[in-house]
Amino acid sequence: MNEHPTLPPSGPKAAAPVKPTRLQAIRGMNDILPDEAPLWELFEDTARRVFAQYGYRNIRVPIVESTALFVRGIGEYTDVVEKEMYTFEDKLNGESLTLRPEATAGIVRASIEHSLIYDRPQRVWTSGPMFRHERPQKGRYRQFHQMDAEALGFAGPDVDAEQIVMLARLWKALGLAGIELHINSIGNAGERAAHRQALVAHFERHADLLDADAQRRLHANPLRILDSKNPALQPMLAAAPKLIDFIEDDSRAHFEELQRLLTEAGLAYTIDARLVRGLDYYNRTVFEWIDASGTLGAQGTVAGGGRYDALFEILGGKPSFACGFAIGIERMILLLAALGAHCAPAPLAYVVHAGDAAGTLARRAAEAARDAGVAIVTNAGDGSMKAQMKRADASGAAYALIIGDDEARTGTVAIKPLRGGGEQFAVPAGELATRLAALTR
Ligand code: HAM
Repeated sequence: MNEHPTLPPSGPKAAAPVKPTRLQAIRGMNDILPDEAPLWELFEDTARRVFAQYGYRNIRVPIVESTALFVRGIGEYTDVVEKEMYTFEDKLNGESLTLRPEATAGIVRASIEHSLIYDRPQRVWTSGPMFRHERPQKGRYRQFHQMDAEALGFAGPDVDAEQIVMLARLWKALGLAGIELHINSIGNAGERAAHRQALVAHFERHADLLDADAQRRLHANPLRILDSKNPALQPMLAAAPKLIDFIEDDSRAHFEELQRLLTEAGLAYTIDARLVRGLDYYNRTVFEWIDASGTLGAQGTVAGGGRYDALFEILGGKPSFACGFAIGIERMILLLAALGAHCAPAPLAYVVHAGDAAGTLARRAAEAARDAGVAIVTNAGDGSMKAQMKRADASGAAYALIIGDDEARTGTVAIKPLRGGGEQFAVPAGELATRLAALTR
């Protein structure tokens, strides 16, 4: 009798196992593999160290925030909010949520929520993934990483200059030359309103030239039209009224003092009247550091930032002052890789062992060495002595520690230099930790 009436008597021929398809990372979202990770660590460690030298402390905010935070904070008519956000509905309550496209809005929200800055200003930094649905290309990804620093509650311009000087120090510490500083002042709200009026009038005079994007932004956000990459618009944009010509005394004095401080610090800069940045929250100081080596192709801006004094109020907080920037870490890694920077941390030693007694001695000796601060990899997964020696070599370790039957019996460990020659020698297992610790010095 057929116990499975739904199957033909000959068996489940048609139900041959289906080979699962291979899943891949989402387009524009990259894996950072162990061989690449050392450059990331080099960058992150150096940045953390330099930022700490200026009194910046770490803050960590969620990757998911309510969509309204970014719409209000970054601005409804920016590319980021209009086109690039990963927005989804919370399944339970229908709330609109967004994967953060940047860190500043979240940090300001957190500062307001926890009354972080009302009794004293704060210098904070954060780092981590950001998400923008852009067309991926070299240096531009959909999940990318920023190292972000914010000086909250400082009116500047001393702190604006300090941040720029701090970045110059970071480039130097990383050995990166050829990153150029561009600065501009985009004034305050009143000055921008006057400029905006003049700008709209200019664009209206050339209405026949405006593309669909520009027309849509004409009244909602005419400043953004200046960011247009459409070649047909460029001559008209070049002739547009310049914001710098509308800047009044206070903002002008702020900008002049910033320049004085940069000159005092010995930093060269270019004043770039068209630098307005892609996010709406800025006022007065804006700056970008642009790689001039050509390594990054079209995505040369490695860091950007500026002052955003209105953001606290826009997000429901008390009026405050703030200035900050973010560095694109992937772009930093491309520059460091092009420099040939490398720092592959390898263990000092790799333990090769054969037999039960040798295994016990190997594990014990390795733990004692780690107690002494030595990085040591113990062979796992058996293998002949020859195969284990190959793994020792591939690990990058400076020494192989060999523990066979003889060593297990006599309680010794043979130390074989793997690089740069040198004779193998034996030490009592009890002395291994101190001998290895001495070799790391
Ligand atoms: P942002 O100019 O949008 O500013 O981004 C800062 C940096 O992040 C850029 O200069 C670039 O290096 C990197 N970046 C941006 N988008 C991408 C992408 N799709 N792929 C790879 N890298 C990218 C901000 O995000 C502001 N929150 C900076 C700030 C902080 N302003 C004040 N405080």
